[in-house]
Amino acid sequence: MKTYIVGNWKLNFTVGEASIYLHKLLKALPNYRDIEVVVAPSTIALQPLSLQVDRHKIKLAAQNAFYRDYGAFTGETSFSQLRGIADYTIVGHSERRYIFGENDKMIEKKVAAAIRNKITPILCVGETESERSFGETADVIRDQVIGGLTDVADDDLDKVVIAYEPVWAISSTKAAKLATPDEIAEVVALIRKTLADTYGKEVAEKVPVLFGGSVNPSNAGAYLTVPGVNGLLVGGSSLILSEFTDIIEVAKRVRS
Ligand code: 13P
Repeated sequence: MKTYIVGNWKLNFTVGEASIYLHKLLKALPNYRDIEVVVAPSTIALQPLSLQVDRHKIKLAAQNAFYRDYGAFTGETSFSQLRGIADYTIVGHSERRYIFGENDKMIEKKVAAAIRNKITPILCVGETESERSFGETADVIRDQVIGGLTDVADDDLDKVVIAYEPVWAISSTKAAKLATPDEIAEVVALIRKTLADTYGKEVAEKVPVLFGGSVNPSNAGAYLTVPGVNGLLVGGSSLILSEFTDIIEVAKRVRS
């Protein structure tokens, strides 16, 4: 399985800044066969960047889109409009869940809409700090994984990526703490067990599981060697080109 390094730029960079960053990143990166480098710019930058990107080196992800293909949905962009432009899409990021009120029902439809439009969903799951302190982590993760995948046919499960992002470890949260490798290993094992119980062990082993939450060049190596982790979803550190390329270098080292 490839190692995934995904940069979630969130609401940062103008289209011009995104284009300059991509230009520099393309120049800095060789063509890594084993590492899938993905960046997720704002929706407005996706189309111009799709004309600029060299997909042998870097893939593009949307951060969000709407599950209906067309209609009276003011302000939305559909996955069908992003077909051929975005290779991946983040779905169910905690900022979508908690700031914009997305629930598992909407997330389930978004995952299905992405697959229908040949865009690989990166389904984000993760417990909040209070859910963890009440001992609810396992239930929350199970519900989010099963809920998010409800509309996915068994044959399509190999078109899904899952990202474990504990909300309390995301750098923008008030009391962000670093997740330990043991904490991550436990939840990643639970995600795979949930997949295995629902879809069978063989399929469960094929789904890449990423980790995200305050990843930077100094902790990337430790996180990439957590059993069951196939890559990283990077927020803040992906905005700094040298840090993002350092993380990719770490991934290369860990693999070899
Ligand atoms: P940080 O890496 O800034 O903690 O963000 C993680 C994240 O939310 C990526 O989707």
